[in-house]
Amino acid sequence: MLSFPEATAVHPHGYAFGVRARNTESEESEREMSSSTGTHAYGEPSYWDQRYSEDPGPFDWYQKYKTLAPLFEVYIRRSHHLLVVGCGNSSLGEELVSDGYLDVVNIDISSVVVEAMQKKHEDKPELKYIKMDVRDMSAFESSSFDAIIDKGTLDSLMCGQNAHHNTLKMLQEVGRILKDNGVYILITYGEPSYRLHLLKELQFWTINLHVIDRMEKNPEQRTWELTKPLPLSKDGNSTAAIIGSNAEVHYIYVCIKDETLIRQANVNAKSEESRS
Ligand SMILES: C[S@@+](CC[C@H](N)C(=O)[O-])C[C@H]1O[C@@H](n2cnc3c(N)ncnc32)[C@H](O)[C@@H]1O
Repeated sequence: MLSFPEATAVHPHGYAFGVRARNTESEESEREMSSSTGTHAYGEPSYWDQRYSEDPGPFDWYQKYKTLAPLFEVYIRRSHHLLVVGCGNSSLGEELVSDGYLDVVNIDISSVVVEAMQKKHEDKPELKYIKMDVRDMSAFESSSFDAIIDKGTLDSLMCGQNAHHNTLKMLQEVGRILKDNGVYILITYGEPSYRLHLLKELQFWTINLHVIDRMEKNPEQRTWELTKPLPLSKDGNSTAAIIGSNAEVHYIYVCIKDETLIRQANVNAKSEESRS
């Protein structure tokens, strides 16, 4: 285990600069995933099958339900039809249900983890586990989910071969199966300069950006107000200006599907086509 000294400083806008704190197993995994070595493995189903065979968990990447719950309260209702993509053996789905959410579907590409989670939660009808590739969710109808939660799954596709192609396919599918005004909640280590252009490539949504300390803290010690979105400029540079680059945070992009934007993008594409 590595350890870092604690250091926090509150920014005049009410936000604050980076925090360094003790490393957890989750942070070690994240560091490994975001480093340039061995990145391909995270995009491969065989890697995940092997990992889940060796380590059945439970294990949560980045953040646990408890710290994210206040943000979910803002965007999701208990009656909403929810999808967790790339669920792994995280406790997120189980804790959503324990907290009163009535309908939580989880998917993952690893048959090993899906079978284990099906068995573990066979007594909970509100919690379903299905083996599915997030790049092809054709088993789900269009406009069928109110919210989709992604904790580390887009990140793992970004580590694989053909990352751009695969993440676009994933985001296209996410956009298709969300209802109008539905939310895609992406929890990631990727700062706006690395994620925003990708999310905007499809023009499905308006985007709110939230941040949360990487390390779990008591409420009174937290540097960031999770439920308060940060100002987000078109290129995302506004965030670095506020929180600094390499801040010890996770970024949470809440992408709200907007049919009006989609119709406008289609009109623009058609007029572009007719001009050329
Ligand atoms: C970094 S882990 C995150 C697991 C879990 N969401 C959490 O927060 O602990 C990424 C997960 O995405 C899954 N995954 C990778 N590629 C996938 C794909 N194409 N379709 C569905 N799931 C995928 C992996 O099997 C793994 O469980």
